[in-house]
Amino acid sequence: MSHYAWASHRTFPLQGEDLAVLADRNSGWCVLTRDEYLSLNAALPIRIGEADAPAALDRLWAAGLATRDGLHADRALYQPSTYPTAVLLKLTGTCNIECEYCYDYDAKRFKAQQSFASIRDTLQRLLDRQDRISVAFHGGEPLLRFGLIQDVVDWLAPHRARIGYSIQTNATRFTPAVLDFLDRHDFSVGISLDGVDEASNGLRTTRRSPTPLEGVRRLMRERPEFVRDRCGFLAVASQTSAPGLPAFATWLQAFGVSGLSITFLDLAGRGAGLVDQRLSPDEAVELYRTLIGMIRRGEIKELGIRNLIARMHNLFMLQSRDMCYRGPCGAAGDFLVLDAEGGQRTCDCVYHPYFEVEAADVDAPSQSQPARRAILDRHEWLRTEGDTCATCPIFGLCGGTCVAKAIVRTGTDRSVDPVECALSKYIYPELLREFVAAERPLFEYYARHEAKPFEFLAA
Ligand SMILES: C[S@@+](CC[C@H](N)C(=O)[O-])C[C@H]1O[C@@H](n2cnc3c(N)ncnc32)[C@H](O)[C@@H]1O
Ligand code: SF4
Ligand code: SF4
Ligand code: SF4
Repeated sequence: MSHYAWASHRTFPLQGEDLAVLADRNSGWCVLTRDEYLSLNAALPIRIGEADAPAALDRLWAAGLATRDGLHADRALYQPSTYPTAVLLKLTGTCNIECEYCYDYDAKRFKAQQSFASIRDTLQRLLDRQDRISVAFHGGEPLLRFGLIQDVVDWLAPHRARIGYSIQTNATRFTPAVLDFLDRHDFSVGISLDGVDEASNGLRTTRRSPTPLEGVRRLMRERPEFVRDRCGFLAVASQTSAPGLPAFATWLQAFGVSGLSITFLDLAGRGAGLVDQRLSPDEAVELYRTLIGMIRRGEIKELGIRNLIARMHNLFMLQSRDMCYRGPCGAAGDFLVLDAEGGQRTCDCVYHPYFEVEAADVDAPSQSQPARRAILDRHEWLRTEGDTCATCPIFGLCGGTCVAKAIVRTGTDRSVDPVECALSKYIYPELLREFVAAERPLFEYYARHEAKPFEFLAA
């Protein structure tokens, strides 16, 4: 005999009699009619033989919405890796351009240069413990240290099959040698650009040539296949760039680019004073409403809007593997940043002592590092006590959003970033309502880009 009970969950009314029932310890969910929900409420908890359990109960269990003998299904449990799997290497604090908003700028750090020895030590420790590692080259401007990138890739050659490479760059330092190297080693290349004209890139400032936009245009002209096969774009949404982002998306799509990520301006580093450039939560939602409208009308189709797709992952699996759009996020376990000054951090989205891994802890399993425990504790606090998330129906899908953005906005981790919160409150209900509607253009868009089946039966 087994004892079945509801897992901790919340409900969200959809059209008519439909109700979304959402777990809050994982992103499992299902849609029931009000009557079905009430009759399950009357029936649970129940002691019954596993073989005799009605199919509906098994489906709830598989969707992370029921416990059996007090336990969740395995895949409904948060299972961080013991050691990080994604390493971001800050190669330098230096940059050849002066973006007005750069969160990474700090007068002292600007001069800091990463050492090969420090990278080797860190990667060797991880290679001894993990099967696969993704290595991201970052900065400052990482291509200012192309020699160091080559040294690291050479040194990692015996482990090539276990490594995935990526780089995030401002696109001003591409040369044929750099491009051939990135091709040869199968890099995924993130290019930072805020729009299709110089005005939209007004906060990505440089007095030299090429500007980031000129760098991208040249790359598109000279190596179009490189752009199509390898490059995704990352735009910062601000008052300067936001009006042009829908046109930027269609421009990238017309060229054959496969992905665009949009991040919202954080007031950090050189950008600390740019209050007037920040989008309000309503303006951020309006931008997404526009993009989602374009997807629904088929105007955005081949281009993957990565942040939207990452949020959608949560509807399809009980514990998303996406680093940022899940709770607790990658900073709680999977993500490791080696900063330009040689220290380790759980994330680099903003520079704050909260993310520093103490020197004494760098070799410890993630779960026993206080900097990572803090993120788990925040997540549990949001779930149970936080005045916004504790009663929010979509907490299991949303997870409380980025802790770094929350800290930079409010100064404390016991809070949520209002822009990210507003986006979750807009996007998830929109998706849940579409799920029960006759037409599902957003789900079709997701299938085109991800083709992931539901990991569990959602209705
Ligand atoms: C710090 S840069 C480092 C890599 C490289 N120099 C580049 O620009 O791609 C990484 C990313 O952070 C973004 N970024 C910089 N400052 C930001 C801020 N205040 N808020 C949000 N994103 C920011 C940049 O636009 C870029 O896409
Ligand atoms: S965002 Fe990147 S390109 Fe711009 S100043 Fe910062 S490090 Fe340099
Ligand atoms: S702190 Fe924010 S940016 Fe960093 S891993 Fe977590 S969600 Fe992502
Ligand atoms: S961050 Fe906002 S949308 Fe997300 S769970 Fe908390 S209150 Fe809900």
